[in-house]
Amino acid sequence: MFKVNENYLKLPGSYLFSTIGKKVNAFVQDNPEKKIIRLGIGDVTQPLAPAIIQAFHTAVDEMADAKTFRGYAPDLGYEFLRNAIRENDYIARGCQIEADEIFVSDGAKCDSGNIQEIFSQDNKIAVCDPVYPVYVDTNVMAGRTGTYDSRKETWSNIIYMPCTAENNFAPELPKETPDLIYLCFPNNPTGSTITKKQLQEWVDYANKVGAVIIYDAAYEAYISEEDVPHTIYECEGARTCAIELRSFSKNAGFTGVRLGFTVIPKELKAGEVSLHSLWARRHGTKYNGAPYIVQRAGEAVYSDAGKVQLKQQVDYYMNNAKYIYDGLKSAGYTVSGGVNAPYIWLKAPNKMTSWEFFDYLLEKANVVGTPGSGFGPSGETYFRLTAFGSYENTMEAMERIKKL
Ligand code: MLT
Repeated sequence: MFKVNENYLKLPGSYLFSTIGKKVNAFVQDNPEKKIIRLGIGDVTQPLAPAIIQAFHTAVDEMADAKTFRGYAPDLGYEFLRNAIRENDYIARGCQIEADEIFVSDGAKCDSGNIQEIFSQDNKIAVCDPVYPVYVDTNVMAGRTGTYDSRKETWSNIIYMPCTAENNFAPELPKETPDLIYLCFPNNPTGSTITKKQLQEWVDYANKVGAVIIYDAAYEAYISEEDVPHTIYECEGARTCAIELRSFSKNAGFTGVRLGFTVIPKELKAGEVSLHSLWARRHGTKYNGAPYIVQRAGEAVYSDAGKVQLKQQVDYYMNNAKYIYDGLKSAGYTVSGGVNAPYIWLKAPNKMTSWEFFDYLLEKANVVGTPGSGFGPSGETYFRLTAFGSYENTMEAMERIKKL
């Protein structure tokens, strides 16, 4: 008789955003006349920029001609895209990353879930609390965690690094030594950031204790302040301790298109074994590459026209972020985030739990957000709103919230 991977049975409930989706669908069915405004999952709403659409059309035409048709993509991604990433995201920022250290994929969610596969099962992970749930859930699936304490909402064998108002939502170096450290800045869900000096402390720490930092920089395009690093490779010594995950979802609206990449410098080694070669082995074996037309669309993100158009898109969402932030503040909420990230993190009013506030907001204002406790125990009593809605919906949502 076959057996299932019992680690999956340890996972409580469904994936956070699936649970929210089910709750909202049930509400819509019971209240078909209500106009729901969704500021929950960080999904973009603006159409793809013209430069990207143009690149798609050209690539589709190439696929229609035997002379320019492409089959399987190269394992690591097409060189035209890896070179564009290298030049614009790394060399332009003074970071020496080679094109063959960049692995193109179908998105940062998959990469952030899959990357743990190249590490031993007995590695101990450290995560910020609250945190993007994929990091913890995929380590549970892999059997790297112990048991779940439903009262504390924590797993044994994970090092939680609380990110609270007291520490400005920035994790402190853990007391217990981890093997793998997940960091995400600008942060999902709190919208917080850390300075280059703070990130350098993490890099120095990881090199000292022999840990790897898995650095999720999916929201890099939203950084507006000077002293906030755009990539971990701005820090000295990061090439020997850090993997970086990047996405085209939030900077270019590719949530439905799917494109991302992971950087693994060749110096990053466990003894003589390079993590680069392990990930290359995995990528080559389990993956056939992002579609040619999508990679051409990704290349257009770095064109002159693409850069101008995407800057306008980011500004559009950040204008929403400011609108939400200011609106909540004027209504008396305790608010943070929204300056270097498209997420606004607020304290639920009147001592409500995160899920109580979720229900309250859905029922009374017909606005969907994300309960902070879904990201970890330190997120309890907090709530996340996304700036990725349309301006009109964002304005209407704020009018409704202010009237509560
Ligand atoms: C979020 O809402 O946290 C993100 O959209 C989820 C994701 O990027 O997978």
